[in-house]
Parts: sequence; structure tokens; C-alpha cells
Amino acid sequence: MKSIFTTKSIDTLIGETKGKKSLAKVLGPTELTFLGIGAIIGTGIFVITGVAAATMSGPALVLSFIIAGFACVFAALCYAEFAAMVPVAGSAYTYGYAALGEIWAWIIGWDLILEYTVAIGTVAIGWSGYAVNLLSEIGINLPKNLVSAPMDGGVVNLPAILIVALISALLIAGVKQSTGVNNIIVAIKLVVVVLFIVLAVGHVKPANWHPFMPFGFGGVVKGAAYVFFAYIGFDAVSTAAEEVKDPQKDLPKGIIYSLVICTVLYIVVSAILTGVVKYSAYSKTSAPVAFALQQIGINWGSALVSVGAMCGITSVLLVMMFGQTRIFFAMSRDGLLPKALGDVSEKTKTPVLCTALVGIAAAVIAGFLPIGIVSEMTNIGTLAAFIIVSLGVIALRRKRPDLKRPFKCPGAPFTPLISAAACAYLIYQLQVVTWIRFAVWFAIGMVVYFVYSRKHSTMQNEEEAVS
Ligand code: ALA
Repeated sequence: MKSIFTTKSIDTLIGETKGKKSLAKVLGPTELTFLGIGAIIGTGIFVITGVAAATMSGPALVLSFIIAGFACVFAALCYAEFAAMVPVAGSAYTYGYAALGEIWAWIIGWDLILEYTVAIGTVAIGWSGYAVNLLSEIGINLPKNLVSAPMDGGVVNLPAILIVALISALLIAGVKQSTGVNNIIVAIKLVVVVLFIVLAVGHVKPANWHPFMPFGFGGVVKGAAYVFFAYIGFDAVSTAAEEVKDPQKDLPKGIIYSLVICTVLYIVVSAILTGVVKYSAYSKTSAPVAFALQQIGINWGSALVSVGAMCGITSVLLVMMFGQTRIFFAMSRDGLLPKALGDVSEKTKTPVLCTALVGIAAAVIAGFLPIGIVSEMTNIGTLAAFIIVSLGVIALRRKRPDLKRPFKCPGAPFTPLISAAACAYLIYQLQVVTWIRFAVWFAIGMVVYFVYSRKHSTMQNEEEAVS
């Protein structure tokens, strides 16, 4: 058999997209930037900031966002180089195949399941929290058993399951409708974030920023590893590569514009959040942005922000699910996952079976697991994928300096090295139990690879036919 480190040529990768299973090309740079923002702004800023401020970062929450944003900007430049060079649906998974070889591609693909399917579960739990909160404000109180996971003292998180089912149905209906819906939702979410900034900025009291680091610098970097979740999603832009009209130009734009817009908004929002209310007060709420407005007496703004947050979180679900199905699509085309996962329906031009399966898996996660465990798993899986992609940029520049790179990551090899080191540092800041869970996930992935994927790999079988 061919070595597990054999790479796939970029021409082969691009050629494969021209078969009958190809997807409809409908996306431009604006849709891609919206797709990115759609994936990025969600549970991270609307839910996770509160816990980070109250228990890790304190008023230095803004520093945590800057540190995590720094790692992401460097990783995004690496992603952009690959995305322009290999505009194929599988995102980092495909880059791994081109730069480092099949086994690394598999490892990234396996990690991306954490980044996408587990993230969908996590984000759906955040959505459910807001939905339950809003319903209770208008007097409808759902029984606790039906709105929280067993480890949180309930039986099942029903609203989280329902939202996952709804998003799956939307994606099965077709990509054009879905991106249209996404654009509207993203616009609402941006308006709501800007509204928060405008309403709250005049109420900032600098005294709230003292002490700046109540949990020390150690707390600030732990906070950075935690709020990293808020940035996840810019890379999802690259999963749409095969549906883009001019991928070599538009993908780097979509990735970088969406991340930069969100980074600026996050830094402003996090500084204002801890400026209007004492950081410790956020321990009492799971809706910190709305809570801050309530505290300064702007209740109508708080209600609007809640509705906007629900819309915003919905668009994260939409893009994440879109991303996961496209990664599975690519992995099945390569034979590493069963071929049926790549089947595109004649009628809707979308991968129906794959979308349904991702929906079921994410619904089970959302319905039965607590947000703390799954958000950290998402972070570690994503950070690991970012590290491999960054090192992949260096590897491919050495191996194939001749390849046309429509976008070049500036400052290589230093930029990719800084990206990998920053992501490794954030992993180091996560809980030990998260490392252990991740090691178990990795081990299961290796078993699947050697028992199933290696034997069914299209590339391995081509080699056998030749030899
Ligand atoms: N960045 C996404 C969120 O905050 C995953 O929900």
C-alpha cells in the first residue's frame, strides 16, 4: 500500500471537483464575508463572555479577546493562502492532503468534526438558553427537565434539538435559499451588536475596570483560551470553496474581512461590557450583553439584543452545519468516509444524507451534553486543526515552491510558526480533562483510519491498481 504520508496533487484535487457530483457555484465575496460573520458572532460573544469576565479575565476580558484574536489572525492568513491555492470543498482537511499526506488529512478531518459538529451542539445549547430566557420573560416557563441536559439536572434539552432540526431542514432545501436567509440574519446581528455599543458606551465608568486583572495574568490567558470559541468560524468560509464564483480571489477576502470585522467588534464590546457593569456581576447571568443593558436601565435595548442574539446564534448554526457537510462531502469523495455521504440530490443539489446525519449527531450532543464540556472540546479540536494548517503552509512552500499561490501568507515562515505556537499555547491553557478527552477522540480516529479509511481510500486503491 501507498505510504500514509503520500500527498495528493493540487491538480488532482481541483480536477476532482469537476465531476458530476459538483455543487452549484453561487457565492461571491460579500456572501462569503457574511458567511464568515455568520459563523463567527454567536454563543461566544453573547454567552461565553460572561463566565470569562466573572471567573477568569475580569475587566481584562478585552486583553483575552486581543490574545485569542492575535492567534486567529495569524491562522487566518495561513488559511487564506491554502484556500486560494486549493479551492476545494474540504477546507483544512483538503489542505492537509495536499501538504502533509493522507494520515494528516485524516487527523485534521477528524478534528474538524469537533470544530463543526460538536460546535453545532454547543451553539444550539447557547441558543436554547436565550430562547428559554425570552419565553420566561413573556410568562411561558418550560419545565426544567425539558430544557437541560442530564448532567445539568434535566432530562433533555428540547429547544436545542429543535433548532438543530430546523437548520438541517433549511440546508437540505438548498444553498441559495440558505445563504439568502443567512445574509438577512447576519445583518440583524450586526445591527444589534452596533446598537449595544452605541447604547452602552456613554455609561462606561472607568472605576469598573479596577482591579484590571483580579485573577492575575494567568486568568487572562485562561480566559483567552475560553473565549477563543467566539472566533471560531472564519475558517468555515473555506468550506464553501466549490460554491464560489471566483474562489482564488474571493476566499482570502471572505476569510480575512470577516475575521477582522469581528475582532474589532469583540474588542469594543468586551471593553464596554466590563466598563458598564462590575465584572463580578456577570456570574449571575447567561445573557451578559442583554444583562449589561438592563443594568443601565435600557430595557427595550436589552430585549432587542436578546432577539438579535437568538438570530445571530441561528446563523452560526447555519454556517457550521453547512461547513461540516462540505467537509464530509470531501472526505467521502476521497473514500475515507463511506461514499454515500457525498451523494448530492438531483433535485436540491445539496448533500441530503450527509446533512441529515450531521443534524442527528449534533442534536444528540445538544440534547444530552452540558455546554462546558462541549465548548472546550470544540476549542481544542479547532486549535489542533489550526496548528496543522499553519505547519502545512511551511511544508508545502518547501515541497512545492513552484505552485501558483494567488494569496501568499505574508512573513512566512514566521507567521505560520507564530500561529502554531500561539494555538499550542491556548491548548495548554485549557483544562487537563479536555486534553484527556481529546486524546481519546484522537485514538478513536486512528482506529477508524486504520480499520476503515485506509482500506477504502481512493488514492490507496489507485496506487494498488497501478502496482
Ligand atoms: N464563534 C461561534 C460562536 O461564538 C462558534 O458561537
